[in-house]
Order: sequence, then structure tokens, then C-alpha cells
Amino acid sequence: PRVINIGLAGLGNVGAGVFKNLEKNRSLISQRIGAELRVTKVAVRDLSRPRDVEVPAAMLTTDWKELVNDPAIPVIVELIGGTITAYDMVASALRAKKIVVTGNKALLAERGKELFALAEECGVPIYFEAAVAGGIPIIQVLQEGLVGNHIRSIHGIINGTCNYILTRMSQAGLSYKDALQEAQEKGYAEADPTLDVSGWDAAHKAIILASLSYGFWIPQDKVYVEGVDRVSITDFRFAERLGYTIKLLSVIRADENGLVEVRTQPTLVPLSHVLANVSGAFNAVLVNGDVVGETLFYGRGAGQDPTSSSVISDICEAAAVLMHGARNSGFVPHGLYGKSKPVED
Ligand code: HSE
Repeated sequence: PRVINIGLAGLGNVGAGVFKNLEKNRSLISQRIGAELRVTKVAVRDLSRPRDVEVPAAMLTTDWKELVNDPAIPVIVELIGGTITAYDMVASALRAKKIVVTGNKALLAERGKELFALAEECGVPIYFEAAVAGGIPIIQVLQEGLVGNHIRSIHGIINGTCNYILTRMSQAGLSYKDALQEAQEKGYAEADPTLDVSGWDAAHKAIILASLSYGFWIPQDKVYVEGVDRVSITDFRFAERLGYTIKLLSVIRADENGLVEVRTQPTLVPLSHVLANVSGAFNAVLVNGDVVGETLFYGRGAGQDPTSSSVISDICEAAAVLMHGARNSGFVPHGLYGKSKPVED
């Protein structure tokens, strides 16, 4: 099969997961998409840092420009986080006509408007499934599955760290501080956990979902944001007595005049509501479309494996575009990767 070279920038929690899982499911992926995905260069900040995965030393570089300038690499995967170097990297990759895959919600919420305009000008796509809700393919849902709907509203639990903290406070009586530490140890939190607990990580994701639903980038100063850092165990006790729990909800909705509201804040959710039972680092996104009605998407919203599942889906998308100029569903039965269970008599 055709080989597609990938330049991977960032070998943190998610970057290492992408490298590991591309290797783990190499033959399955290659049979499904009809191409072999090969990471050929990996950009890191510090060569001497110990890592979760073994990457051949010859592949490593501290200069991301080597990836962007390599004519043999048509796909750049940006997983370095932050918005300054990441912007330069994505913009240069687009100018060099490389397909970009990113999981960087802060970058898109802040500068998505410029970057997508640049992508259009350069004639190459940006894929960003991993930017929202970890392993839940919610971007594809909005771009494809629900393309024929006016989106009435979206209610989401879209920060795994905050949902983990609130769950542990409510169910195990842990202090806010201990619960945050646990979430960090499990690899759910951002490099700077203030982004999580302040509500801004979820708000960045809500801005992305809103832009897909309504076609324009909501400025950050038009978003109401409140974090989980002031929720106490006493709040939970009072809420429970009244039949509620507390969730960090991101709400996106348009009123009858088409005005779009985006907010992220701790919200009382009735215990009987489906979102009340989304626990730990799980995420859930409830989308209401005018044709489909209510649809619910649930899954692991943070962490190495689920998030890398989404990055890999974007890389496969990039491969399909390079090979066929179009998306590939990945379920065309042209490979032998399954076997039927023997019939028992
Ligand atoms: N820090 C994020 C979260 C990671 O906790 O949800 C996934 O975007």
C-alpha cells in the first residue's frame, strides 16, 4: 500500500498515545484505509526528557521547522499545546500545503478564524477531532451526521478534569484539591490545570462546537465562563437534598432571533437527568437538532488513549484526502480485519 509520512509535533501524553496506538493497530488501520501511516519525524522540546514511548533517536528533532520543511511529509500533527508556537507551526504548515491535524482547542478558540481563512486560501484542510471531548467523535457528528439540521442547542460535559473532580467530591467526599491532584495523576488535566478548573478549557471547546453549529467564531469575550474552583462539598449536600447534582455544563443555544449564547458554568442537574450520571473523566454531549431531535454522545473525554483515538481518525481522514481527494469512511470492506464467530450448535 501507499506510505503516508507523518510529522508529529509534541510527544507529551497525547503525542505519545498517538505514536503508541498507530503502532499497536498498524495493520488494521492499513487494511481499512489502504495506506500505511508512518511517523517519520517527531519534534520535541527537550531531547533528554524520559518518555512513555520508545521513539528512535534519529526521528527526534527539537526544531519543528524540520517537519514543515520536509517535502516527504504531507501531514503535520500539532500536539504541543499553547497558542504561540502552535500558531506559527500550524500557519507555516498550511502555507507549505500540508494537511494539519491538531488537538489544540485553545488555539482554535483564540485564532481559529484566522487559521481557517488561511487553510482555505492555501487549499488544505485542518482536522481537529481531538480538540473537543477526547475520544467522542463529536466534530464528525456536527460536520457530517447532523449536517442537515439546524442546531437548536448543545448541552455538554466537555471537561474530563472538572467532571472527575466534581464526581470525586460528590461520591467520595474528597476535597477539591485532592480530587484535582488525582485527575492530574491520571493524565486528564492540561499542562496548566488552571485552564481546566477555571472553566476555560470547556469554554474553548464550546466555542468550537458553536462555530460548527452556527458558522461563525464566537469571540471569547462573548462567552460566560465560571469554573469549578469555588464549588464545595456543602454545595453538593444542599443540591442532593433538593434532588440535584452539580455538573460543569457548557451550553450553546440559539434563540428565535438566531442569537447564539455560549456559557460554561457549574449547573444544578436533576438526579434523574441522563447528564447527572456521567461520572469521572467521561464526557457527554447532548445535541438537539430541528430534524433529528435529541441525540446523545458519550465517552472518555480526556486521557492518552481516547484522545489519540481521535487524532488517529483525523490522520486517516488526511490520508483519504491525499489518496482519493475525499473522505473515506474506513468501513469499506476491502480488508480482512474481522472474522465471524463460529456458530454454536
Ligand atoms: N484537560 C482536558 C480535560 C483534556 O480534562 O477534558 C481533554 O481535552
